[in-house]
Order: sequence, then C-alpha cells, then structure tokens
Amino acid sequence: MEKMRKVLAVCFAVAFMTVLSGPAQAGPIVIKYSHVVAENTPKGQMATRLKELVEQRLAGKVVVEVFPNSQLFDDDKVLSAMLLGDVQLAAPALSKFEKFTKRLQIYDLPFLFRDMAAIDRFQQGPQGQELLQAMTGKGLIGLGYLHNGLKQMTSNVPLRVPADAKGRKFRIMQSDVLAAQFEALDAVPLKAPFSEVFTLLQTKAIDGQENSWSNIYSKKFFEVQPYITETNHGVLDYMLVTSVEFWNGLPDDVRTVLKECIDEAIVHNNKVSEAKAAEDRAKIAESGRTEIIELTDAEREQWVEAMKPVWKRFEGDIGAEMLDAAVASNKN
Ligand code: LMR
Repeated sequence: MEKMRKVLAVCFAVAFMTVLSGPAQAGPIVIKYSHVVAENTPKGQMATRLKELVEQRLAGKVVVEVFPNSQLFDDDKVLSAMLLGDVQLAAPALSKFEKFTKRLQIYDLPFLFRDMAAIDRFQQGPQGQELLQAMTGKGLIGLGYLHNGLKQMTSNVPLRVPADAKGRKFRIMQSDVLAAQFEALDAVPLKAPFSEVFTLLQTKAIDGQENSWSNIYSKKFFEVQPYITETNHGVLDYMLVTSVEFWNGLPDDVRTVLKECIDEAIVHNNKVSEAKAAEDRAKIAESGRTEIIELTDAEREQWVEAMKPVWKRFEGDIGAEMLDAAVASNKN
C-alpha cells in the first residue's frame, strides 16, 4: 500500500511538471539526405548546395543532414528505409527503382538517347514529368531528375567489339534491363551495391563494370581497370525522391520554399555534371593508369546491333507511347 502511494505521488509530480513546462518545444524538421557517391560528384555537390540553400531560406524551420558515400544506407536499402521514415531524401540511379515501378526501365535501354540534351528534353517533357509520379501508389514521390552523365565500360581486357565481352563478368545496378543488356553480349551480369564495386574490381571477382566518368574517377575504378571503352551506351541519371507521407505532412509554406531550393540545387547539379564529364575524363586520361579506347563508327555500330534487341523485351512494361516519346527526344 505504501509502495502504491509512492508510485502515485511520482506520477502526479511528473504530470504536474509537464503541465508547468508546457508542450515540448518543436525543433526544426530534420531531413536526412542519403546518397552513395563522393562529395566531389554532381549529386554530392547538389546535396551540399541544397543544404546551404535551406540554411539560408528555412533557418530554424528545416535542417538538411547529408550522408554521402553510402554512410547511412546503400541504394538497395534506402527506399525501404525512406518508407519507414528513417531517411527523407535520396537520389538513387534510375536503374534502382525496379521493385517499385517497371516504367523507369525506359532509362536503361541501351543506345536510346543520343546525348544528354535528348535526355533532358525527354525528362522535362510530359512523359518524363509523368514518370516522377509513377511510384506515388507505393508511397514515393519524385521531386526531380539529376544528371550524372553517359555510361562507359571499364574492364580488365580491351573491349573493342561486343565479342570481347563474351563470358566476362560485369557488375550492374539492380536492373533487369541492364542484366539483359550484358546477356545480349553473352557476358555475365552481377547485381551489386555501388559500395562494393571497387573491391570487386580490385580482387578481380569481376572483370568490369559500366559507369559515368564522374563515378569512374571519384571512386578510383580507373586505378584498378586497365581499359575504359568510351561507349556512351546508356545514361546514369537519378530521381530525387521522398516519401509521400513526409512530403504531404510538411507545412505548405515550408514545402513551397523547400521545392524552390531543390529546383535550384538541381540546376547546379546539372551544370556540375556537364563540367565533370569532361574534366574527370581528362583527369583519367592524364593519369596514365588506364587506356581509353575510342570506338570507330563501325565498331560502335556492332555494339548498337548487339544490344538494341533488348528494347523489344521490355517494350511491354514500358509502353510503346513512352518509347516513341523517348526516340522523338533525339530530334531537337
Ligand atoms: C551505381 O550504383 O553505379 C550508381 O548508381 C552510383 C550513383 O549513385 O551514381
């Protein structure tokens, strides 16, 4: 009985103090932004710029915490973590959304877009904008596209023609289109997170991989791959995503200013990506650690012929109209 009285007294005291101190003071909204690349990349620079803009325009209301280099989550975990509320922003490569939608597979089709300008036209057009909403039913909303650049093939053997890739093992992102692309070369694709690529290459567990100049440079893949073939066969771009729940739960005025900051940071990203593609290629060439193989038109045509049949296999999921719009974006 005495014990009970003491417990009740403590409960009253806690309740009384809570009333006196009023409701807990709400702090700023914290946005954890997780990504897998280095800070000196387009996406890394975009994240830094976004953090700065938010500090200027939403001081005291919102704080952006950036976690680069897979420090917080790998790309295969980040989207489920987002749905649990453990992270609020991420920008995985467009190849990494297959579990949520098959419609983004369009971006992985080999030799679909002629250059980055064509990709930009498609992304900013009605179909590209519609794809930002492709995952809302699954709880994710696209806030914009970020460019990185066109993909090249790195390898421990020279790849001049598709037959050179036969039987070789290549790391790919989580994408069935990319798996089909390497199978079309009679090569062996291996899906693995970005954080494992360097070690897989260094230990020769795989023969090669495909990536942008910026990633090949910033993650030092060129130091462990004696050959890079400049194929420009596909695109490495990202979708900046958040959860529908988080986005809709923001106060209207905060959401508006935050979206403005995001749009500006994306413009910055795309300027950096253009510059980096050229700069990082030049630094790799100057390093003397690897040989950059430039294809003749006839050699390139062989890669196109070998890989293009992949389109047919995925046309059903992607939709003919979507595909037509992407092809049309090659004409300016
Ligand atoms: C990769 O996994 O190769 C890329 O998606 C990494 C990145 O985010 O650029």
